[in-house]
Amino acid sequence: MGYLAKFRVWRGDSGQGALEDFEVEVNEGEVVLDVIHRLQATQTPDLAVRWNCKAGKCGSCSAEINGKPRLMCMCRMSTFTEDETITVTPVRTFPVIRDLVTDVSFNYEKARQVPSFDGGDVKPGDFRMQQIDVERSQEFRKCIECFLCQNVCHVIRDHEENESSYAGPRFLMRVAELEMHPADVRDRREIAQDDFGLGLCNITKCCTEVCPEHIKITDNALIPMKERVAGKKYDPLVWLGSKLGIV
Ligand code: SF4
Ligand code: F3S
Ligand code: FES
Repeated sequence: MGYLAKFRVWRGDSGQGALEDFEVEVNEGEVVLDVIHRLQATQTPDLAVRWNCKAGKCGSCSAEINGKPRLMCMCRMSTFTEDETITVTPVRTFPVIRDLVTDVSFNYEKARQVPSFDGGDVKPGDFRMQQIDVERSQEFRKCIECFLCQNVCHVIRDHEENESSYAGPRFLMRVAELEMHPADVRDRREIAQDDFGLGLCNITKCCTEVCPEHIKITDNALIPMKERVAGKKYDPLVWLGSKLGIV
């Protein structure tokens, strides 16, 4: 059975904006993105919204729904009561371009800074990966680059000044993935700590909580990476080995 839902949507550009109220038809089985599309089709043809797959796989439709970072296409209307006002705002950490669309180029800049896989002298076919190593990187590879983890991490959400020194959970996870790859010869511990700001992460786990792919970003990437960095810094044998050039 359809009903009229109360939607409050942020409208504006990088200069200014405000929340606007609407009443929009909702039908059974719909998600927030369906309602935003109906709003666009019937009342606000110029409403800017980024989306692509409508299946939780392209990572385009990130927004904050009632203050929680979510994918609009995976947020079922049935999770709200019919008399609830549903507030949809752009993700807060990145600058607004217009309405619900933000400029996420910060993330692409950080992605470009991650040194790529370096297999050393290993030739294709010379190396056989253990299943456990395959599974470890496959978890990280499920990332759809929705940047919800980047949006929610307080290190940049509340402190814009950290943006130059902090890559955010998605890219620290990428560094960790490569560091844990058995065939990658590069030592990525200093990169993680000095260039990507691993030390600024204080393990609040908000990134893990919002990840639509349920990747255990903190437990499986960030904490193991911190342990590797601590091992290099504080283990006297590792320290001595690094001085002698054998670790
Ligand atoms: Fe999105 Fe999860 Fe990837 Fe972060 S790690 S960008 S939350 S899919
Ligand atoms: Fe931020 Fe996640 Fe660490 S939210 S502080 S990167 S555990
Ligand atoms: Fe692709 Fe939502 S539209 S993840």
